[in-house]
Amino acid sequence: MRATAVAHANIALVKYWGKRDDALLLPEAGSLSIALDRLVTTTTVDLNAEQDSLRIDGRPAAGEELRRARMVLDAAGVVLRARIESRNDFPTAAGLASSASGFAALAVAACAAAGQQRTDRELSALARLGSGSAARSVPGGWAVWEDDGAAQVASPDHLALRLVVALCGSGRKPVGSREGMKRSRETSPYHTVWIDQCRRDLPEALELLRARDLPGLGALAERNAMRMHADALAADPPLLYWAPATVGCLDAVRSLREQGTGAWATIDAGPHVVALCAPNHAARVEAALRSVPGVLDVLVCAPAGGARLLELRGHNT
Ligand code: DP6
Repeated sequence: MRATAVAHANIALVKYWGKRDDALLLPEAGSLSIALDRLVTTTTVDLNAEQDSLRIDGRPAAGEELRRARMVLDAAGVVLRARIESRNDFPTAAGLASSASGFAALAVAACAAAGQQRTDRELSALARLGSGSAARSVPGGWAVWEDDGAAQVASPDHLALRLVVALCGSGRKPVGSREGMKRSRETSPYHTVWIDQCRRDLPEALELLRARDLPGLGALAERNAMRMHADALAADPPLLYWAPATVGCLDAVRSLREQGTGAWATIDAGPHVVALCAPNHAARVEAALRSVPGVLDVLVCAPAGGARLLELRGHNT
């Protein structure tokens, strides 16, 4: 009746930015991501509760987050009330995305607590109902999400890689991904072009990944991120997710490249910059990003695997 699971956050190299179904959270185009080892969420689901409750990092969360968690439970056929405790082991709580790892860990823990045996694909489709990008945190590693659930297409060690995360702001972003994507699709004149681009980028990225071509993949990821932000910027009202430090980091990454250090940047719907590089360049990239004015902290991550069950109590015990 009680289970604990862990999941890692992920960063997309080909981004999900646009839904073909707003209620079911189905993407307009496929996306590709890699899971990040140092961004972990641990979630415990206890089905011996009188009413649903959710605590994130010790704080009670009601409203939208609890509603989404209940949606995942309902879709899994879990009718019992749930006490959910979620903890983000992020070294700093400066607004790094935790919904992907959070809903992935929730889906795994809830199904285990209910005594269900489910495939990774089914768990991924359930996590997706909480947040689209959570579908990719269930399989972890290099994950592709196109339809209901995501699948791992290459293991975390397929490519020697580091992801250097520069925290460029704190606090919640003014417009969340859900609203931002919807506004882009409804009002940005670039949105159709953006989606067509993603449909070309995904097969090309998979080919570069297969060939372990980090410079090719890095350059594609950077272009894809810039084009997502171009789509968002062209929305009405415009969506500008960047802070001054974001631009500083983009400059730093470009100048690293000019000096011969292979590094490429990607940015989600927020101010933080994630630089991709080879492991032997990580210290140099970290130092360069730390020296950018406005950068609050820098975190060097390696690729990680999928969501997993840590503990199960109450069944056959
Ligand atoms: C920019 O998964 O947070 O990070 O499905 O509405 O919950 P919802 O959105 P979410 O969007 C993530 C958007 C992104 C790109 C990506 O992760 O692919």
